[in-house]
Amino acid sequence: MSLYYNIFKDISEIECGGLHLIRVNSLTIPTMDDVEIKNKKVLLRVDINSPVDKKTGKVLDDSRIKSHIQTIKELLENNASITILSHQGRPGDDDFISLNQHAELLSRHLGHTVEFVEDIIGPYAIQKIKQAGPKDVLLLENIRMISEEIVETEMERQARTFLVKKLAPLFNLFINDAFAASHRSQPSLVGFPYLLPSAAGRVMEKEVSALSKIFNPNDGPKVFVMGGGKIHDSIRIIENLSRHRVADRILLGGLVSVLFAAAKGLNLGKANLEVLEKTGATSLIPRARKTLLSGAPLEIPLDFKTVDEKGEIRNEPASKVENLIKDVGETTVSVYSSLMKEASVIVLRGPMGVIEDERFREGTIRIMTSAMESKGFVIVGGGHMISMLDYTTIDPSKTHVSTGGGALLLFLAGEKLPAIEALSRGVQDDKSSS
Ligand code: 3PG
Repeated sequence: MSLYYNIFKDISEIECGGLHLIRVNSLTIPTMDDVEIKNKKVLLRVDINSPVDKKTGKVLDDSRIKSHIQTIKELLENNASITILSHQGRPGDDDFISLNQHAELLSRHLGHTVEFVEDIIGPYAIQKIKQAGPKDVLLLENIRMISEEIVETEMERQARTFLVKKLAPLFNLFINDAFAASHRSQPSLVGFPYLLPSAAGRVMEKEVSALSKIFNPNDGPKVFVMGGGKIHDSIRIIENLSRHRVADRILLGGLVSVLFAAAKGLNLGKANLEVLEKTGATSLIPRARKTLLSGAPLEIPLDFKTVDEKGEIRNEPASKVENLIKDVGETTVSVYSSLMKEASVIVLRGPMGVIEDERFREGTIRIMTSAMESKGFVIVGGGHMISMLDYTTIDPSKTHVSTGGGALLLFLAGEKLPAIEALSRGVQDDKSSS
């Protein structure tokens, strides 16, 4: 059993000498109640990475942006000077864009100006941060425009990056509210707690404590529905879920289902194999085959919705696909829906099809609706899934909408999340220095 699995089971909230701490087994994560915020210069890491329209570059859903408003408001009420860091997309992808739109959206939801600073560690950003006073809110440029941020390595090394060394001396407090990125050991997420007093923001705090209450690894059956396009992350998550026996069933959709269908030896046709090749997924086929052979409780679609060369939409059996896969098919939706009926917990991560095109949203909407109509508690994660919630009816008493996608599933699978570990390390440093 992994450490984090234990951590997850033993998580609790404790009151201690007037402090409100989240205790995670041996890890103790301070919250905003445990650090002095008043009049402080605060560096706030959020995750406002949002779905973006490929053609227009417009943010399609601002749920993640809204989720951090409470944290920012609380900092403002305490006269803090706030500088916000976030990533958006990954270099080379269509959604790798500037954060200027995000600053406007943040300002609108906050009812307070958030100034966009088109720089991160250069002289302009440093001057702006130094000049910022109480209640000023700055949003720096997409942090992934700095190459150091793309590298995932040990926390100690991340604390020595230019990024962390340049920014840390300008602040006296680091708040990490980016639960959705907490599975990444990147400098902006794990480096600062080594140099600055640090705490979890309200989103991070809520996610960790809510998920611990909802998700008991001993309850069953637990059904994980996994789709979306982040294929390298998905395979790692599936391996974890399977190794720790967290999932009773894993229902696949999206690109990850195409990968596993190929690994199973199904005849997917040239066009779909080319898609796998383009996304770098072909090299993952042997790994997917190994996972299948290991007895992972995986369900692969029985049919797909495809589009032919003339643009006509078809429903094709997974055993003989001739056209480009765009969504899961009719039979798959029915089978998956019946598999979810008796579940005690259903976790929905990643869409079943190419939801950017409304013709291919049906699989995702119908699976989501079946989950909501089942007896189980539903945990919905990831920006794309959240953007689809408007198409279904939610019962808030049996639904948790998580800001996390990959982070959520790895948390539930029992993997250590580096950004949470780094926060716990900050506390130990504090204690030892006091
Ligand atoms: C997410 O959307 O899962 C987080 O923002 C992390 O993004 P990443 O997978 O590009 O690191």
